[in-house]
Amino acid sequence: MSKTIIVSNRLPIKIIEDDGKIHLKQSEGGLATGLSSIYKHGDNIWIGWPGETICDQNRQQDVVNLLDKENLYPVFLSEDEIENYYEGFSNEVLWPVFHYMTTYAQFENRYWKYYQEVNEKFKQAILEKIEPGDTLWIHDYQLLLLPKMIRDEIPDVSIGFFQHIPFPSYEIFRLIPWREELLCGMLGADLVGFHTYDDVRHFISASARLLHLAASSNRLQKGGREISVDAFPMGIDAQKFESMKKGRATKGFYKELIKNYKGQKVILSIDRLDYSKGILQRLHAFERILENHPEYIEKIVLYMVVVPSRDTIAQYKELKDEVDKLSGNINARFRTESWHPVQYFYRSFPMEHVVAVYSRADICVVTPMRDGMNLVSKEYIASRRKPDGLLILSEMAGASKELSEAIIVNPNNQDEIYGAILQALETSLSEQRERMNALIKTVEKFDVYHWVKIFMTQLKQIKQAQKENE
Ligand code: G6P
Repeated sequence: MSKTIIVSNRLPIKIIEDDGKIHLKQSEGGLATGLSSIYKHGDNIWIGWPGETICDQNRQQDVVNLLDKENLYPVFLSEDEIENYYEGFSNEVLWPVFHYMTTYAQFENRYWKYYQEVNEKFKQAILEKIEPGDTLWIHDYQLLLLPKMIRDEIPDVSIGFFQHIPFPSYEIFRLIPWREELLCGMLGADLVGFHTYDDVRHFISASARLLHLAASSNRLQKGGREISVDAFPMGIDAQKFESMKKGRATKGFYKELIKNYKGQKVILSIDRLDYSKGILQRLHAFERILENHPEYIEKIVLYMVVVPSRDTIAQYKELKDEVDKLSGNINARFRTESWHPVQYFYRSFPMEHVVAVYSRADICVVTPMRDGMNLVSKEYIASRRKPDGLLILSEMAGASKELSEAIIVNPNNQDEIYGAILQALETSLSEQRERMNALIKTVEKFDVYHWVKIFMTQLKQIKQAQKENE
């Protein structure tokens, strides 16, 4: 029987070493949850990097055996590969350019060489596992060359590709020295998916202008093959959040938060450490509120969770220092004997704790400078106990296209973020309910299972259409 193979840079697990023994910790990330409806069944598998450098062959075999039980198959990466393919090309070339932060990009030839080699390595791993009739679903910017590499080996294979980060406009994309190779790599797929129609448009226009491909509506022709490009806004597992709210651990944390922040409005900010997230801009807006509105002293807190990420890369390290400094300054300037305005946590929390914080927060501020989708905004909505609370959302996040009842702001406009927080602090309960009820409906209806289903259905349809046109 044919199977589906999911491929992404990272496997949906973490490897934990305890007393010399290796254990697996399942990831709670949105992609892992959504795709569990696929990869955990039958012969389906997920191929990816296990997240640690493991050089010893015996240990590698231990990991292979452990992962095998979970339908997972590892691609081991050396330190050099992590430095040049993952930190280098993926996160110092593609990440900044695709997020419109081109001055952060380092166009190093060495990074490009490793990027090609590691994509080849993933190809080999797939070839070890793939059988006739199997379907491949490849994910994200770390593996842009992979669809074509597989297509060249198995011309009739069914390949879906989904990019979780934005695809920039042609004028930005064309800056990359290896732009044609990257596009051709992606176009090895039969279906190329993005979160928004803007990304789809940008991808089609880059393909038409750089590769001179014929495009009609959302179809591209390449080498006699028809490729479909479409928007599939990813959702979350809303049902899981619903049941987590009722769990014991979540309720315990929630009670603690109610006690700790009695009489105060909690403004939540939660992101991975990343310059695309607008963390500093948010802190500045909060500082201005304390400066101009002393009536909020001891009445509001910014509960700010920054989850450590990519901290070996210079720009991430610098950002961490700046966030530390600014939050420290705000606290030193405005704190009182019994109150700290910024409750800053540089760590990740168990999901139960995160859901409790989402439930307690009166306002959630999600103001990335640029974001493919942003699932935090959807998780906040799914975690409300009552339909209240306010979401402030950047118009540069893919989610803003669906969550129009949020307070939408331009993250570059400091006055707008400042004004939106002030507005949210004073919004009546009836208006909160009106907005939140509509948001809850959207998040529940378009969940992650819906996302998986429509992507897979469309992949089957395009494959069918290709056969009929033969
Ligand atoms: C974004 C990307 C993912 C990536 C995640 C975490 O959401 O789209 O592909 O896995 O960030 O980043 P990391 O570099 O830790 O894998």
